[in-house]
Amino acid sequence: MSNMRIAILPGDGIGPEIMAATLRVIEAIGFQGDWVYFDAGLAALEKGLPPMPKETIEGVREIGVALKGPTTTPSGTGHVSANVALRKALDLFANVRPAKTIPGVAGPYSNKEIDLIIVRENTEGLYSGFEYQPHPDVAQAIKVITRPNCKRLFQYTFDMARRQGRKRVTLVHKANIMKLTDGMMLEEFYNEAANWSEFQVDDVIVDNCCMQLVTRPEKFDVLVTENLYGDIVSDLAAGLVGGLGLAPGANIGATCAVFEAVHGSAPDIAGQGIANPIALMLSAAMMLRHLGCADQADTMRDAILEACRHGGCLTRDLGGCASTDEFASHIVDLATTPSAV
Ligand code: NAI
Ligand code: MG
Repeated sequence: MSNMRIAILPGDGIGPEIMAATLRVIEAIGFQGDWVYFDAGLAALEKGLPPMPKETIEGVREIGVALKGPTTTPSGTGHVSANVALRKALDLFANVRPAKTIPGVAGPYSNKEIDLIIVRENTEGLYSGFEYQPHPDVAQAIKVITRPNCKRLFQYTFDMARRQGRKRVTLVHKANIMKLTDGMMLEEFYNEAANWSEFQVDDVIVDNCCMQLVTRPEKFDVLVTENLYGDIVSDLAAGLVGGLGLAPGANIGATCAVFEAVHGSAPDIAGQGIANPIALMLSAAMMLRHLGCADQADTMRDAILEACRHGGCLTRDLGGCASTDEFASHIVDLATTPSAV
């Protein structure tokens, strides 16, 4: 069988470090991949290209699957987000972010069984890019919600929930205030839910949802929500299960999928070889599952769970002292010789 081509976007900051660690593990477990590298973020800017160059977008579109490291975006001024550009250009409408308790990872919620998936709308809402300044003292942003996009988002969410054997799907919104935009999402959510009678469906206002996620996170199952709320709530959920270093994600479109960690480029620790590659490794496991390689996805995930359960070789953010490379070597050992613990 010929190798599967995968677009690789190493990204900025810790991106290249965690990407190298992740690809070492994927290769070690026998996945036959042809890595096709593309520039994104600061590396592209340094070559005089936009942060998400056309060649990168077209390359990912043609290959259909990408593994991406985080890219740096300055706040307030400077270039537009490479991520937003990629998601919009490839119409990656659903951002799937699981948050699951990892036994062995210490934290205030380590005694709870958290296992939830956040599906964040990824192309519209307040991140639609319509921001302008009609007067020096006034800035405005337009929030866009469209009915066809709501329909496909909810169809995808219920279908994913069925594939994963989930029981409850909850819409997170603010339709009490945003009556037209979030109101449309609410209406379309229940329209779609009528086709999926096996699920318990409900909705919750986003601020109340944050409070409930902190007080009883184990009650949630699948959460689907608008772009901005999903961005915030998914970082909150990552914090519940051990922090950003552990949270994977997938950006799903009709014909393309881009897998990446929830966290950013972590400039404060970049270049030191101490970043935790687990989030990107778990994203890669999601990618392998998406490609139909469920056994290899399980091997990778199980090795990571094993490493966390036993401790001993974890990165600094998890209380250990292993470098990114040492951790990757440990995962390779666990994945290729299961009795290596
Ligand atoms: P961040 O996620 O990069 O860092 C937040 C904190 O978590 C930092 O203290 C960092 O050291 C730590 N951290 C993050 N990932 C880690 C890992 N794998 N191992 C160990 N520690 C880790 O968020 P921040 O500082 O808000 O953003 C930095 C840059 O990343 C910004 O330019 C932002 O725009 C960009 N960003 C990019 C994303 C992407 O490309 N998907 C997503 C989020 C932010
Ligand atoms: Mg974010």
